[in-house]
Amino acid sequence: MRISILTIFPDFVRVVKEYGVVSQAVENGILEIEIFNLRDFAKDKHKTVDDYPYGGGPGMVMKPAPFFEFFKFYNETYGKPYVVLTSPQGDVLNNSIARELASKDHLLIICGRYEGIDERVMKFVDREISIGDYVLTGGELPAMVIVDVVSRFVPGVVDEESVKNDSFYNDLLDHPHYTRPRVIEDMRVPEVLISGNHEEVELWRRKESLKKTMLKRPDLFMKHQFDEIDKRALLSLFRELMADAK
Ligand SMILES: C[S@@+](CC[C@H](N)C(=O)[O-])C[C@H]1O[C@@H](n2cnc3c(N)ncnc32)[C@H](O)[C@@H]1O
Repeated sequence: MRISILTIFPDFVRVVKEYGVVSQAVENGILEIEIFNLRDFAKDKHKTVDDYPYGGGPGMVMKPAPFFEFFKFYNETYGKPYVVLTSPQGDVLNNSIARELASKDHLLIICGRYEGIDERVMKFVDREISIGDYVLTGGELPAMVIVDVVSRFVPGVVDEESVKNDSFYNDLLDHPHYTRPRVIEDMRVPEVLISGNHEEVELWRRKESLKKTMLKRPDLFMKHQFDEIDKRALLSLFRELMADAK
């Protein structure tokens, strides 16, 4: 998959491809991440990318001309990508949007700055994506978040089983995790995890996952489609709660 980022701060976003599984995926040729500097497409000698807003008011607006120049170059060179504009006004990013974006061969993410971009640039945009109901100073952090979360759904970037067990995959939160040592300051790893009984381990993990979701995110719990393991896990949770109540 090819992901391109258009920004006025290329050094800011470059780190997204330099660490962890994303950098490994780039090295292995599973992901291609390219960063473009919008200033390179500004025609004047000062490489201006912003201007005063028509109608007055505070702040500056990103000029349309460098974007038009950029898309002329980009579409001719690489073909038309699926274009995402980072914007607090967009659809709020979640797992299902990330999965959908990961199915595109070619994604281009635009980072806004100032008061935002000239509205006429919207003719190039397929989807506006927000990373939450707050306003950041620029689209670079949202672009990096989008690259990171989308990458996890690109086959081969992370172990598919691990993605399936992560929070939100099936409207459930992840179960608790433990590693060595078995005991630290009198706190023990639950016995079932060292029993070697895989079926029991899976049931315990599902029970804990359901419990966490019920307590922390009842909205997700209500959406979850319960399968046979869930039913057994809920029965086990119910027994546990009854035993605690005695
Ligand atoms: C200061 S913001 C502009 C906010 C704009 N005036 C508004 O109120 O809708 C500058 C840029 O940061 C990015 N941005 C800010 N908050 C964001 C969010 N929650 N999600 C995604 N992008 C965001 C967008 O690219 C935006 O164009």
